[in-house]
Amino acid sequence: MGLLEAHAGLAGKVAVVVGGAGEIIGRAVTLGLARAGVSIATCDIHEDAVAAIVPEVEALGVRILSVRADAGDPQALDTFYDEVEAGFRAIDIVVNVVGGVKRSLFMNTTREDNTRDIRLNYGYVVDSCRRAIPLIRKGGNGGSIINFTTIEAHRGAATYAVYAGAKAATTNFSRALAVELGGEEIRVNLIAPDTSPARTSNAALYPEDFERFAKLGDDAMAQVLKIYVPLKRAPSVDDLVNGVLFLASDLSRSITGTTLHIDGGTIASLGFLDWPFGDSFMPAPLGGTLARLLPKDD
Ligand SMILES: NC(=O)c1ccc[n+]([C@@H]2O[C@H](COP(=O)([O-])OP(=O)(O)OC[C@H]3O[C@@H](n4cnc5c(N)ncnc54)[C@H](O)[C@@H]3O)[C@@H](O)[C@H]2O)c1
Repeated sequence: MGLLEAHAGLAGKVAVVVGGAGEIIGRAVTLGLARAGVSIATCDIHEDAVAAIVPEVEALGVRILSVRADAGDPQALDTFYDEVEAGFRAIDIVVNVVGGVKRSLFMNTTREDNTRDIRLNYGYVVDSCRRAIPLIRKGGNGGSIINFTTIEAHRGAATYAVYAGAKAATTNFSRALAVELGGEEIRVNLIAPDTSPARTSNAALYPEDFERFAKLGDDAMAQVLKIYVPLKRAPSVDDLVNGVLFLASDLSRSITGTTLHIDGGTIASLGFLDWPFGDSFMPAPLGGTLARLLPKDD
């Protein structure tokens, strides 16, 4: 074991990952923790993936409990935690990954859309923490809860209004919980991604957004990232997993109630874009870009 691994102190721990089998980020979090020697209890909505991840994790030499459950269903989440308690007795780490949104103007959404968005971006996180904390206490060694939020919790994210509100609730809930649980060495932190190649749900953009990108060719997204992201590239899925490993481990033992923005710098720039055509850094396009947006017919 290297010096870093020894200081991280992850080997031998047990993590719950809600949404840890199916898609890119959830799956990567589970495998990242397992590679660090952490046993896994995960639930996910994707039936096939729940079965498929078991041999992958076992091959890494740790235990796994993997069950199908919709985090949107309070009863299913409760049943999952019953199984975690029966299988592991105590846990050390919780990662609430599930979340997401369908891009839409608020007034084009229904009450049912709103209820589900609030449940999947805030409500289940509260329920998951309520069930997880007694299991962390049973271990007697403190613990780390990591909730996924988003940059949209920190800005007026038009066409994502209910998602933005629900994730802001998750963010401040986590901060408040961090204060309540600090005396027990139970830390609560957040990961806030922005754009990432793991945006598995095409619902995060309008279909016509993809069509317009497709017409522009392969380089279009790279050009967008150069304008939008200070580091000029989207963070990778591994970058997100590294954030989870850091917050789960003893390397962050004095960090609680904090949001780790793994976004290439977009929370820092907050609207300051690096416009092309000589305009450089400004929130709004200047002469060079505007000249191309508004060509004159002379
Ligand atoms: N992908 C991004 O670029 C991005 C940007 C900002 C914030 N986020 C946040 O990061 C988290 C992960 O993002 P993602 O959804 O794009 O990653 P993802 O789709 O790669 O991972 C989500 C995981 O949750 C599972 N899942 C989805 N719905 C579920 C449900 N109802 N019950 C149980 N499991 C379910 C999926 O199968 C998957 O394993 C979310 O909370 C999201 O809001 C992502």
